[in-house]
Amino acid sequence: MTLSIKERLDAVAAEIVVCPKCRLSKTRKNAVPGEGNPESLIVFIGEAPGYWEDVKGKPFVGAAGKFLTILIGEIGFSRSDVFITNIVKCRPPRNREPLPDEIETCTPYLNRQFKLIQPKIIVTLGNNSTAYVFSKANLFFSGITQARGKFYETSILGMNIVIFPTFHPAAALYSAKYKEQITRDFQLLRGELAKREIVKS
Ligand code: URA
Repeated sequence: MTLSIKERLDAVAAEIVVCPKCRLSKTRKNAVPGEGNPESLIVFIGEAPGYWEDVKGKPFVGAAGKFLTILIGEIGFSRSDVFITNIVKCRPPRNREPLPDEIETCTPYLNRQFKLIQPKIIVTLGNNSTAYVFSKANLFFSGITQARGKFYETSILGMNIVIFPTFHPAAALYSAKYKEQITRDFQLLRGELAKREIVKS
């Protein structure tokens, strides 16, 4: 019996919600595997769940998530058209950044999600998710400010892919400058999706 992509993604999510592999499993309320269209050509990757994501078990449902939902609307998609996840699936205490060993322990789950979904474009949100995806692509990373707003045609995990880094939507909540830049990045993204004929799947 061959399982569908959704069934295989659900199996990965079922492992994530009971994962005991790192210290974050001891403090989480709920792990957050990610959600969305299993066949999406676009995947959005954040850093780690925050307070509300931990409570609800869903990615980007707090204040930053509300802004991300608006941005996704501005490129002509809805949340359920795309797939949204994080490099680390459990909330770090007090929303600190995930530690290198937590990223290393958790990202095999993300890699399995990538291989199942086979997106054409990965939008990385912020420094840590961009650093991780660039490392998988053997791309040099010198920080999100340098890297953002450009399209990197590359390959990761044996798949040809475009990486598009931008600022984390949480940055837009405290800085008008970041808000303007991230909004501009999504306008670029909209144009590139049209050029590449990347549509809802
Ligand atoms: N910030 C993230 O990086 N991910 C979430 O899911 C929520 C906030």
